[in-house]
Amino acid sequence: MSEGGFRVGLLGNGTVGAAFAALLPAHADRIQRITGLRPELAGILTRSTGSFEQLLEHSDLIVELIGGIDPARDYLLRSMRAGRHIVTANKQLLSHHGEELWEEARLQGVQLRFEGAVAGVVPVIRVLQESLAGATIDRVHGIVNGTTNFILTEMARTGATFNAALAEAQRFGYAEADPSEDVDGRDAAAKMAILARLAFDTPVHIDQVRYEGIEHIQPDDLEYARELGLGLKLIGTAERIGEALSVRVHPAFLYPGHPLASVGGPFNAVTVESEAITEITMSGPGAGGPQTATAVLGDVISAMIPPASTPPTMKVLEIVHDVVSAFYLHVEVADEPGVLAQVAQVLAQQEVSVKSVVQKGLGDQARLVMVVHPVLESRFTAAMELIAGLEILRAPPRAIRVLEEEFG
Ligand SMILES: NC(=O)c1ccc[n+]([C@@H]2O[C@H](COP(=O)([O-])OP(=O)(O)OC[C@H]3O[C@@H](n4cnc5c(N)ncnc54)[C@H](OP(=O)(O)O)[C@@H]3O)[C@@H](O)[C@H]2O)c1
Repeated sequence: MSEGGFRVGLLGNGTVGAAFAALLPAHADRIQRITGLRPELAGILTRSTGSFEQLLEHSDLIVELIGGIDPARDYLLRSMRAGRHIVTANKQLLSHHGEELWEEARLQGVQLRFEGAVAGVVPVIRVLQESLAGATIDRVHGIVNGTTNFILTEMARTGATFNAALAEAQRFGYAEADPSEDVDGRDAAAKMAILARLAFDTPVHIDQVRYEGIEHIQPDDLEYARELGLGLKLIGTAERIGEALSVRVHPAFLYPGHPLASVGGPFNAVTVESEAITEITMSGPGAGGPQTATAVLGDVISAMIPPASTPPTMKVLEIVHDVVSAFYLHVEVADEPGVLAQVAQVLAQQEVSVKSVVQKGLGDQARLVMVVHPVLESRFTAAMELIAGLEILRAPPRAIRVLEEEFG
């Protein structure tokens, strides 16, 4: 290790590698505060530049973002044998040769971290390995391929065919020029093999995962499903069945209440079920250079200082309470002409604008239910107080905040 520094050798300078190379120096100050060591890039290896041997010699940790089996496997084994910690996002390699690599890491006493290999920046690996290490897991369900989730979301939203939705995914950069491993389910199968390995502490090779893709899905499958209130997702499942394990990937309909049903677009999500914890769902961006590089950098920091650490306070930030929110407002008023106008006038005075309103007669009373656009909470409270003072009011007004963000 260089004096006060921590040298990171980077293999690969593509979508994720280049994002990582930009992210590391941008976060070097903060990482130094957390770990006491300043990370620096020791060098980058690509097909045309750099020498692996030299990079290894001058690095404390190797980040592998080449992808594929060879030469990534050889580079990782050699790095570990030289006593270097490893961070990789290579699901292909881990789903084929995970046992060999984990065994080597144990043997050499080095860390092998791979958060970016499954579900991008969604921290499923760490949660399975650390946070839920004390739980007996019964089942893991996942939407672990963003390309297929985007395609199915588009088909459901627009009625497009599989091919048209795939072309749209390619246009947005959510699908590779050759999308076969994504759409036939093999990419998801590799990720489920890794998750199953961690959840059930048993070797799982990708060849043991049964998988089916989404190429055969027709627009009318989605149309009928919509009428029945169902959504279609490519679901990976790893579950304990008696003393055995089933790991599979296939399209499946979900009812709206299922935690994975609302995960749309290129997002990924993983649900872990266990008697002790009931169910935990994690979701977020499943791919992308900067997103995956963030997961990779998190692994690098963990490898630099294994125990969890809270960085020292650097700056005291003001804590604010008066924040912007949309609100649902419920008012019971006398059923007289002009009551809506009176309430609307008070809201307008406080610059609270109404997004939608429903008015309902209830005998000699009327109920106004409205949703207002995001507004500073103090303004909304002032409007509420004025409304509460109106003579037409029959009960105190009620309000509930509305989270407007739509995910996916
Ligand atoms: N892209 C994502 O959103 C994403 C998400 C999660 C995980 N991952 C994983 O992250 C890894 C990297 O993916 P990526 O999308 O960044 O790949 P990429 O854009 O294709 O980049 C690959 C990089 O590796 C280099 N490389 C390939 N073969 C090499 C060899 N034999 N020797 C030295 N360098 C070699 C390439 O060098 P040249 O520049 O010379 O071609 C390139 O710089 C893969 O394991 C992938 O599965 C990617």
